Amino acid sequence: MKTLIAYGTRYGAAAECAAALKERLPGDVDVIHLAEGSAEASEYDQVIVGGSIYMGQIQSHVKKFVQGQQEALLSRPLGLFLCCGRTDAFAEQFQNAFPESMRQHARRAECFGYAYSLERMKFLDRWILKVVAKVARSERSLDFGAIGSMAAQFSSQGGGTHDSTA
Ligand SMILES: Cc1cc2nc3c(=O)[nH]c(=O)nc-3n(C[C@H](O)[C@H](O)[C@H](O)COP(=O)(O)O)c2cc1C
Repeated sequence: MKTLIAYGTRYGAAAECAAALKERLPGDVDVIHLAEGSAEASEYDQVIVGGSIYMGQIQSHVKKFVQGQQEALLSRPLGLFLCCGRTDAFAEQFQNAFPESMRQHARRAECFGYAYSLERMKFLDRWILKVVAKVARSERSLDFGAIGSMAAQFSSQGGGTHDSTA
């Protein structure tokens, strides 16, 4: 079984989630950071796409990838994930991030939590986080349970049953 995990990230949280998914999946798993490369979804048996949210939006290269590969994504098992600090706004942010057709088709949609890596952040991002979200030190709350559940669902041929949390 061949799996593609394609993701966007700014400071590495979504990359860590993608790597954790890969570790838990059997078979050949390719992990692509969409800011640095792309892949043909049609060459894989199943695909998981994710990214992180900034000011309500997922990375534009994730949107572009999803739009450009709609046909292939809609014809194989699909998983979607977000890293986002506002877990209470997951449903709304998930709706903004992925088109309805993908959301409907996804076997699983998950929020994998968040990480604030202040030491890696550009000044402006650190400032926004401090002023708007009142976060002044690094913290992380990645949901490895949710990552494990998604991996388990994509470990059997066909991607298992539909189970969207959004
Ligand atoms: C400047 C800034 C803006 C953010 N905006 C949002 C937001 O609108 N909604 C949200 O849920 N999380 C927001 N976050 C939190 C990020 O989504 C979270 O830190 C995520 O884990 C980042 O993942 P990444 O390291 O893969 O980019 C923001 C973080 C920063 C630094």
